[in-house]
Amino acid sequence: MKETITFTLNGQPTSLNIDGERTLLWVLRTELGLTGTKFGCGEGLCGACTVIVDKEAVRSCQVPVKTIAGKEVLTIEGLAQADKLHTLQEQFIQHDALQCGFCTPGMILTAYALLLRKPHPSREEIIQGMDDNLCRCGAHKRIVEAIESSSKKR
Ligand code: FES
Ligand code: FES
Repeated sequence: MKETITFTLNGQPTSLNIDGERTLLWVLRTELGLTGTKFGCGEGLCGACTVIVDKEAVRSCQVPVKTIAGKEVLTIEGLAQADKLHTLQEQFIQHDALQCGFCTPGMILTAYALLLRKPHPSREEIIQGMDDNLCRCGAHKRIVEAIESSSKKR
């Protein structure tokens, strides 16, 4: 059954008349055209679909869109400010922390939430915090270096 769901998306008020059981992942990608959020496993296991909801990293493939009513959602498309990349985005580029790039939006947003919780994590804490995000290209080492470098610039 369709219902009206209102939330904030990348700083903009957003309202949709939609089946509230649809997942946030597919609503972002199809109704809203924000394809930076990726479909990997669809089972909450890979992290490719990670977005920020009320400052926490969530796996959007597991989130019925009705549960985000009234909340603030940040996707990779909303991270740069006025054409200035976020430090994490800059450092991923600097450290060559991606190959195909499929995991990258989820990696960056998971790191974003990690740095909100802990602005200056140790390398071990970064590795632990990113442990459940998978990169099929094997860029994990450079991803950790990019996050570490980003934390030092804050
Ligand atoms: S697509 Fe959501 S965790 Fe893999
Ligand atoms: S860069 Fe290809 S999956 Fe991570």
